[in-house]
Amino acid sequence: MNTHPDTHGHTGHENATGSDIAMAQLLELDAEVLASHIADLTGRLAELAELTTSAPARILDLGSGPGTGSLALARQFSSAHVTAADISPQMLHRLHKQAAAQGVAEQINTLETNLNEPWTEISERGPYDLIWAAAFLHHMADPTRTFAQAFDQLRPSGLIAVTEMDFFPLFLPEDAGIGRPGLEARLHAVTNTQPPHEWAGSLADAGFTVEERRPVEIRLDHSQAGPSLNAYAQICLAKLRSHASDVLDADDLAALDVLLDETRPQSIARREDLSVHTTRTTWIARRP
Ligand SMILES: C[S@@+](CC[C@H](N)C(=O)[O-])C[C@H]1O[C@@H](n2cnc3c(N)ncnc32)[C@H](O)[C@@H]1O
Repeated sequence: MNTHPDTHGHTGHENATGSDIAMAQLLELDAEVLASHIADLTGRLAELAELTTSAPARILDLGSGPGTGSLALARQFSSAHVTAADISPQMLHRLHKQAAAQGVAEQINTLETNLNEPWTEISERGPYDLIWAAAFLHHMADPTRTFAQAFDQLRPSGLIAVTEMDFFPLFLPEDAGIGRPGLEARLHAVTNTQPPHEWAGSLADAGFTVEERRPVEIRLDHSQAGPSLNAYAQICLAKLRSHASDVLDADDLAALDVLLDETRPQSIARREDLSVHTTRTTWIARRP
């Protein structure tokens, strides 16, 4: 396991296990809490698509996971067909269930595939008008090759949107009422060991024209983030805790364990003083 415990896991997902289910829950909660951010993005894609042609008819979601992107795209582009490609059957199973629940099952087909291998089945369903890749490119053995493959699958004037969570969101107040103030900042400092991703150069090298680089900072208080915030914070901080045992001071580990203990009054699961602060970057590029 890489020491950068982002939402992306950073492991070779060819060996993925039941931990996919925990990751799927995290991604679904992330999408629920940040629904308006995702809607802004798909809305922007609609504007950019319409500058050259009509709305996208065929969409490819690379590393779709539980399909939060596929579902948002299906809602935005109601006459489009989305191919959701992922290596994990557990993720795709969740996507199927959500698509049925949201009434968009007919718009979305899943494809269980290893995207490090040749894209034979993907190309049989293409070419595509829009490719979406969220929190995914760094999973690829050779992202340069993946960008080249994506370029080949996109029709001229088609768009690609690559989006990344720069790092896990922050949730706690400076003084969480247990242990020393600044606990979450110290947790992030010791577990965030890699710089954020930067894909503009790779997109240009593959032949795309980068139209926008959209860094977005999101701050939502408890009422704005909605009822899923506590569960989302709990699952994110528990994931960071699983990487912190050897790198965080003992008193901070003890305080974090109290915060993660749902039976305690200070528990993240019960607090009303949580907020969410996160940054996301999206690159939108076009095949000339
Ligand atoms: C962090 S998740 C992102 C999921 C989704 N795009 C989202 O934003 O919620 C990364 C996804 O990439 C998938 N993945 C990793 N390696 C892969 C591979 N070699 N081929 C296909 N999918 C892969 C994982 O199964 C996982 O669903």
